[in-house]
Amino acid sequence: MKLLNRLAIVGITVTLAIPTFAHIEKAEPLQSLRQSYFALLGMTFGPMADMVKGKIEWNDQTFQAWASDLAGVSGYQVERGFAPGSEEGKTRAKPEIWLNNEDFKSKLADFRREAAKLSEVAAQGDRAAIQSQFGATGKTCKACHDEYKAKDYLY
Ligand code: HEC
Repeated sequence: MKLLNRLAIVGITVTLAIPTFAHIEKAEPLQSLRQSYFALLGMTFGPMADMVKGKIEWNDQTFQAWASDLAGVSGYQVERGFAPGSEEGKTRAKPEIWLNNEDFKSKLADFRREAAKLSEVAAQGDRAAIQSQFGATGKTCKACHDEYKAKDYLY
């Protein structure tokens, strides 16, 4: 076998081996997609809360970077992850999401609006204003969870 061919085969094997995303459930890709979106929100909002509560030292730049990430991630079209047919599976998403879809979407819009505002306020550096807007953003998470997220997996 020519060396080039051999290299090409090695290349193909490597490319095929890389895309094993263990946390993406192949049988339920949409459930995995939406949970990945919310996991990113949680992993960004959580440390921001720690900073607001004084559990970790305040740092303007770090907070700004997290606020900017939160606003950026919030805009991802997670609606795809709630497509018809993805109601059941390993999920905490309540069936009401598909029954009251307009209300669910308006709660998502509320969250995106407040997260965008938080990123703007964070860039201005007024800590009292930042904390107040952080609270307003957190309320939009809770408003949706109260109606549409179960504590435990549903099915
Ligand atoms: C418009 C509704 C809505 C908004 C707004 C929302 N969530 Fe959620 N969240 C959900 C739903 C529904 C689930 C359950 C998804 C599933 O299990 O399929 C969820 C799941 C989660 C999870 C668990 C993810 C996992 O690993 O399965 C975390 C963490 C989370 N949300 C945090 C947040 C935070 C933090 C915010 C605000 C910064 C937020 N959410 C805003 C609806 C929302």
